Amino acid sequence: MVGSPAWAQAVTNGSTYKPTLGQMGKDVMWLPTPNELVDKMLDMAKVTAQDLLYDLGAGDGVIAITAAKKLGAQAVGIEYNPKLAAYAQTKVIEAGVQDKVRIVQGDIFQTDFSQATVLTLYLLPEINYQLRPTILKMKPGTRVVSHDFDMVEWEPDAVTQTVRARAMMWVVPANVAGLWSFKPGHGAPFEVRLQQIFQRVGGVMRTGNQEQALVGAQLQADRLSFQYVAADQSIHTVKAMVQGDHMLGQDISLGQTVDFTAQRR
Ligand SMILES: C[S@@+](CC[C@H](N)C(=O)[O-])C[C@H]1O[C@@H](n2cnc3c(N)ncnc32)[C@H](O)[C@@H]1O
Repeated sequence: MVGSPAWAQAVTNGSTYKPTLGQMGKDVMWLPTPNELVDKMLDMAKVTAQDLLYDLGAGDGVIAITAAKKLGAQAVGIEYNPKLAAYAQTKVIEAGVQDKVRIVQGDIFQTDFSQATVLTLYLLPEINYQLRPTILKMKPGTRVVSHDFDMVEWEPDAVTQTVRARAMMWVVPANVAGLWSFKPGHGAPFEVRLQQIFQRVGGVMRTGNQEQALVGAQLQADRLSFQYVAADQSIHTVKAMVQGDHMLGQDISLGQTVDFTAQRR
């Protein structure tokens, strides 16, 4: 087989292997995501040619192959069962996308997928839950789409469905919890204490002895925004980009924009 890795050639040489619906994998059985839902999942995650998609538990490779063929994405499918991984590799070649899709035979709990910009899952609730801490450490903005199974109390940002099945999507949020010191380009410095439960945020702002709850705090990937009322009763909108323990952004009020930096203490 031209273009397939040595392990795939070794497994498939002379083989007429065909996977069986419901055959057991390591942690989850094999069932393919129907094409209609694959399209909806990729659409929901807004996959483009700039993305690197990882399908955790790749089965016959349908999600990785579709992402490459229809949307030009680079894709990696991690599949534990060597025969199924080799079968997926033959499908990659049949689809003519071997320059974009790599099938890796391995365990999703032992394989690094931290570079992914999009993750797709069709696993089980408890496996999603076990993967969750690793997923939450990924780059903010990474999209995660799961066929059927949720992430327990991490609510999805979007849901889609077909007549028979549903999928949910999450955007990995930046970690913003803690006490932040804001330094505006001009005007008084202030402090904000942010609380966070996944993508939901709230907080309190302190200037001198005055405290007030933030209004309308929102976190989308690494973008944080909130509003507060200044001492002169003007409403300010803060928009920030979070980079680890730093933020850069703008404080906008009455048509005036003041740049600021913020630092987590
Ligand atoms: C329900 S199927 C989904 C296949 C594909 N992602 C799709 O949506 O069409 C789950 C796949 O995960 C594989 N699998 C189970 N446990 C795994 C593990 N620990 N590491 C890698 N693959 C695994 C199974 O062999 C099976 O092919």
